[in-house]
Amino acid sequence: PSITFIHHDTRAETVSANDGDSAMYTALLHGVDGITGECGGGAVCATCHVYVDDNWLGKVGTVGADEDELLEGVASERLPNSRLSCQIKITEALDGLVLRLPERQV
Ligand code: FES
Repeated sequence: PSITFIHHDTRAETVSANDGDSAMYTALLHGVDGITGECGGGAVCATCHVYVDDNWLGKVGTVGADEDELLEGVASERLPNSRLSCQIKITEALDGLVLRLPERQV
């Protein structure tokens, strides 16, 4: 599946993801800056914050309780479409997913 990351400065990067990887891991694998992922996907660092494109909101699943708590502490503003990208698992159904990167992660 391919995922497009849109940077805060509107630069877009489309990368190919492996089925089952998280969106955070995919970004790190391809050197997409703008996602830090300090905790390696353990849902404890909140440095993998993304804004899910509105067209995809219904497809990426729901925010878990731990994730919801962590999202309260993200460095950039939390919006209704905020997610932690380590909690978004890539599947074929998410081919074409668009994620926007916040201004900063820390
Ligand atoms: Fe740490 Fe997502 S990588 S919370």
